[in-house]
Amino acid sequence: MSTFYITTPIYYPSDNLHIGHAYTTVAADAVARFKRLTGHDVWFLTGSDEHGQKIERTAAAHGETPASYVERIVAGFKELWARLEISYTDFIRTSEERHKRVVQDLFRRLYEQGDIYKAKYEGWYCTPCETFWLERQLQEGRCPDCGRPVELVQEESYFFRLSKYADRMLRHIEENPDFIWPPARRNEMINFIKAGLEDLAVSRTTFSWGIPVPFDPRHVIYVWIDALTNYISALGYGTEDDGLFRKYWPCDVHLVGKDIVRFHTIIWPILLMAAGIPLPKRVVGHGWLLLESGKMSKSKGNVVDPLVLCDKYGVDAVRYYLLRELPSGADCIYTEEALVKRINEDLANDFGNLLHRTATMVERYLGGEVAPPGPPEGPDRELMALAEEVPSRVAEHVDRVELAEALAAVWRLVGRANKYAEETAPWSLARDPGRRERLATVLYNLLESFRLATILVGPFMPGVPPRVWARLGIADRPELHTWESLRWGRLPAGVRVTKGEPLFPRIE
Ligand code: ME8
Ligand code: MG
Repeated sequence: MSTFYITTPIYYPSDNLHIGHAYTTVAADAVARFKRLTGHDVWFLTGSDEHGQKIERTAAAHGETPASYVERIVAGFKELWARLEISYTDFIRTSEERHKRVVQDLFRRLYEQGDIYKAKYEGWYCTPCETFWLERQLQEGRCPDCGRPVELVQEESYFFRLSKYADRMLRHIEENPDFIWPPARRNEMINFIKAGLEDLAVSRTTFSWGIPVPFDPRHVIYVWIDALTNYISALGYGTEDDGLFRKYWPCDVHLVGKDIVRFHTIIWPILLMAAGIPLPKRVVGHGWLLLESGKMSKSKGNVVDPLVLCDKYGVDAVRYYLLRELPSGADCIYTEEALVKRINEDLANDFGNLLHRTATMVERYLGGEVAPPGPPEGPDRELMALAEEVPSRVAEHVDRVELAEALAAVWRLVGRANKYAEETAPWSLARDPGRRERLATVLYNLLESFRLATILVGPFMPGVPPRVWARLGIADRPELHTWESLRWGRLPAGVRVTKGEPLFPRIE
């Protein structure tokens, strides 16, 4: 069985997470579930990035120790992921011993081979981004990434020889067009490297909340070096218990927001290169979920809480909205009206109503029992051909983490089936006793289209298939829920269909 390893960023437990973070994790979950559906052995990692100056200061501002502060916030992460039905296989916390050990060993090794050296750092630091900046990189004296004020840092530091690996890194990006995705992000990174890479300060001495440099404990390891290493420490890299590392590395997809693509496509792969570890296959940088008032941030007080949305609209609807609304690579503006529109149009009207109207007719005209289809005629073949083609379209999009496009492909089938219902007008066929076989055929084709669409939406909305299988009378037929069963005509005659409550009630 082929393996598939996907990661989310490990989020800072400086505050509760908002729908932007939820987007990344839901997207990774949809990919993980899809890969499981298609027969892969999946490892899906998420976690928390607990060290650094930002967390130390936030905890102090709350009058707490960093350790007790993050404990509470990380518990909240896990509650949110449970609510959103995130099927992660492991949750790594950078405060865990299993992680610290690997970070310290890696740091020591790079020092011993001469890729880390001690010098003096003089420059600027953005604490919210935990990023070092050179004078020339600042924009109007502020952080070029987030626009917030930076602080002058003058301290003894260890440095990592990024510059030594710049050419090799550039070549890797140029020779592997899939490495950074989508292509716009790739061009940004190529330009960034071409502008020149300086060696990177990788330790701090002016605060203590971090992993100590093992041979010089006055220093704590730079939080991004600490954080990035989670992707291999969680697999037991470099320890006696490295079975997961040997099985799942190199990573198939690091899914991140565009704000941190640079760390994942320059610093992280160079660190791996220096350590002689294979590079991840792909880093996918998605766009931002914005508000009409700009980027969501706790300091602006304009964050949207995913738990509130789940309580109001249900988990599947919130997941669908997030995954459907953010086209690959682009930003999107969140509004509650757009969410309600997606629920009413895509979920209630297109998807839910297809089942509801079909099941109602099966109950009314066929006594609730699916009858065997007769020979195809009229638009039947076109519907079947589309239904058989959509799964591979969806799979191709999921491979590139184009989830809005993947869902759009499923909705082409849903839309075609709704149109088929109009074209074939089973309510008219029902009035003519001579057209009973045709009526049965039409209803069969509608149900079969719906079964296939349901299998395909499962990774995106995991709560949907069980509810559909119950209505189609195939809850106890798991062989009809699989990727392999995405072949037209597997739905057996004789199963009993019930219309039940609408899958997605309209929101008024
Ligand atoms: O950067 N829209 O953690 P973080 C879309 N600890 N995605 C968003 C978003 C928005 N408005 N806001 C946040 C860190 N995200 C580091 C990561 S990884 C080794 C260390 C998502 O808590 C997006 O994935 O600031 C972004 O990259 C991530 O949250 C940043 O989370
Ligand atoms: Mg951030």
